[in-house]
Amino acid sequence: MPATTPTREFVLGLPKSELHLHLEGTLEPELKLALATRNGVDIGQSTVEEVRKTYVFDSLASFLGVYYPAMNVLVEEQDFYDLASAYFLRAATDGVRRVEAFFDPQAHTSRGVPIENVILGCSRAATDAADFGISADLILCFLRDFTAESALATLQEALPYKDLFIGVGLDSDERDNPPAKFAEVFALARSEGLMLTMHCDIDQVGSIENIRQVLEEIKVDRIDHGTNIVENPELVELVRERGIGLTCCPVSNSFVTSDMKATEIVELLGRGVKVTVNSDDPAYFGGYIADNYLALIEKSGLGIDDVVTLAKNSFEASWLADDEKALHLAEIDHYVESYSDAAASATAAESV
Ligand code: ADE
Ligand code: ZN
Repeated sequence: MPATTPTREFVLGLPKSELHLHLEGTLEPELKLALATRNGVDIGQSTVEEVRKTYVFDSLASFLGVYYPAMNVLVEEQDFYDLASAYFLRAATDGVRRVEAFFDPQAHTSRGVPIENVILGCSRAATDAADFGISADLILCFLRDFTAESALATLQEALPYKDLFIGVGLDSDERDNPPAKFAEVFALARSEGLMLTMHCDIDQVGSIENIRQVLEEIKVDRIDHGTNIVENPELVELVRERGIGLTCCPVSNSFVTSDMKATEIVELLGRGVKVTVNSDDPAYFGGYIADNYLALIEKSGLGIDDVVTLAKNSFEASWLADDEKALHLAEIDHYVESYSDAAASATAAESV
């Protein structure tokens, strides 16, 4: 395989898995306006342009300050269904075959929305994503700036629906909210057979200590972001050895910090870490998954081989069964072969 730069067409068609995607982060202005009208919620804007103008931030905290109030338009089970379905339909156009999507129940229950509206709406959409050629599962995230007691109460409220999500995660504002604060609730989730992941956001105070905690104390199966691990060779070796995936989000990184961390992502890839590329909150950061691959390619000059490794990593780091992973990996090999054959035929045709 030549180390040529992948085209947009190649990236769009490449089968891939999305492992770091907040369903609430897919709320496009058009849907936000439609839901505001449907539910009689005054959001203070009446056009797409006005809503887009509010999507302005330069740090994790300022992003979250826009993100949570926007969720007021999500009330009924159908709202969550419509939100998630719109995302799955959009993801399919980017070659996505598998999604393990986050949702934040506390962002809704804290405003009086019943947890079943959230879980049942998202879960019905995840099932129906099969119509778009996507297998989808859900990850229930706790808000780390809420108390550990609130996380525990949320898990207990969600456990009757345990068959409708495959794991738990931790998101929101990392400052002063280290992983160890949630050790008990994550231990309970593990004992209930759930998979574990946690955000270790970019360039946080205590990033390395938090990454150490998620690996050594919480014993997560995956890390969301986690790119600062590059600063600590021993931790890099630990994730490499354990095959723990890092769900990186280049476009989001460039909004909440000063750059997309392409150098760090590529360095980790080169060191054999299961780095993956994802979109985080695409409606807010303006990039779905293919845009994230393309931004990274443009910034770092990655060739086809590395991009194929990233796509393969996205299935290997997923929580699919081994036989399902193998099918997706074979589909990637087939795609790359057909693409090379088509390129070779085009070159041959040009030379006659
Ligand atoms: N919630 C939604 N997106 C997030 C992110 N990138 N970090 C932390 N919490 C989030
Ligand atoms: Zn995230």
